[in-house]
Amino acid sequence: MTLLRAAIVAGLRTPFVRAGSEFAQLDVLELARSVTVELLQRTELDPKLVDQVIYGNVTRPVQYANLARELVLAAGLPTSTPADTVTLQCASAIQAITDATNLIERGYADVVIAGGVEMLSNVPIALSPQLARAVVSASQSRTLRQRVSSFGSVRLKDLPPVAPAIAETSTGLTMGQSAELMAKLNGISRADQDAWALGSHQKAVAAWRNGEMKQEVAPVYVTSDGGRAVTCDNHIRPDTSLEKLAQLRPVFDRAYGTVTAGNSSPLTDGAASILLMSEDRAKSLGYAPKAMVRSYAYAAVDPAGQLLLGPAYAIPKALDRAGTTLMDIDLVEMHEAFAAQVLSTLRKLDSNEFARTELGRDQAVGCIDPARMNVRGGSIALGHPFGATGARCVTTLANEMERQSARLGLVSVCAAGGVGAAIVLERP
Ligand SMILES: CC(C)(COP(=O)(O)OP(=O)(O)OC[C@H]1O[C@@H](n2cnc3c(N)ncnc32)[C@H](O)[C@@H]1OP(=O)(O)O)[C@@H](O)C(=O)NCCC(=O)NCCS
Repeated sequence: MTLLRAAIVAGLRTPFVRAGSEFAQLDVLELARSVTVELLQRTELDPKLVDQVIYGNVTRPVQYANLARELVLAAGLPTSTPADTVTLQCASAIQAITDATNLIERGYADVVIAGGVEMLSNVPIALSPQLARAVVSASQSRTLRQRVSSFGSVRLKDLPPVAPAIAETSTGLTMGQSAELMAKLNGISRADQDAWALGSHQKAVAAWRNGEMKQEVAPVYVTSDGGRAVTCDNHIRPDTSLEKLAQLRPVFDRAYGTVTAGNSSPLTDGAASILLMSEDRAKSLGYAPKAMVRSYAYAAVDPAGQLLLGPAYAIPKALDRAGTTLMDIDLVEMHEAFAAQVLSTLRKLDSNEFARTELGRDQAVGCIDPARMNVRGGSIALGHPFGATGARCVTTLANEMERQSARLGLVSVCAAGGVGAAIVLERP
């Protein structure tokens, strides 16, 4: 049996902007629609050929139980196109891409749009469970008296709205506190975190200046306030420096911490869509794939430990499945939730002890040359719309692999819950 391969034909994202800024008045569906329509137009793909849409999203407004299906309808894809929304926290778009890969490799689909979106400017704010139960009970009541009595057990403390927290349900620790813990356990210095953050900004600035970034970012048209086109990311700081970064106060452990606003990814709005096809369909339609999905893997760690270390376990699994080693990987896109998480992961991958005790291997997985990593900047500079980041990473990697004629590339994303995801791409 010939193995079908999934091809990355094209990818596009919106500008990534700080939550509460340029996209604050936009709807999450509009953001996803905008980039998906632009992807279809730029690739000149007949929408009728799309077999399925899979979209990642984490903080979904209540009206979009299946955001991906609404995206199909809003983007003018045929109403017969099935669609599903997936959530794997910060790795949601990676889940969408690997689900699309599975469909294509099984021969169940030839053309899939996979991606993700996040609108942290407009997160679902819920009622407390007690108040929510009372509202449901009141809506089912037949008389005014019953309706009023539904609220009898509601106390003052039940009235404030409940916003989603970037914290673990099982431990109560926020992502930032977990990054602090990782910095301390792995001895990652403040200076090293700031240097990583500076590099992230410098590479992002360079990628915009030399025109490479423009290739993967589509403008978003905001129609409120007289209308305007948002064309650029707005968190990148061309003027940042080690001195400025060193002055920032730690956020998550004010007394002894090292994680600051400067060496963390910011809360961000944005969307990204990728067009995947079976190799044969791409060929017959005249597309030249940028990269093929060679393998992928997921892993998970105890959230009470090093929460964001999942990729250190997923990467070796994905490499084994691809039949390759880190040494042969030409380019790496590693999601930067925090500089402390990136540096911890790199250190573990290069540790013989970690390999022996945690992975059951004789030798370290290997060392990644930072010059081959996140070459157009990472999430610290670009921003991190949870649902979209995985698609941003895969798009950039595929574009860079094409530009540099690289043979093999690796993407990794850490996610809440202790999950890590990795994908190995190869040039066709
Ligand atoms: C870290 C965090 C709390 C910071 O939020 P914030 O306080 O709104 O951050 P800001 O961007 O306003 O930055 C705070 C200050 O640092 C400054 N700053 C931030 N980055 C800087 C940089 N690279 N260089 C110089 N100054 C910088 C800002 O200018 C601001 O200064 P001001 O107070 O004088 O205006 C927030 O971004 C966060 O929660 N990030 C983590 C998100 C997360 O957990 N994601 C999940 C990952 S898996």
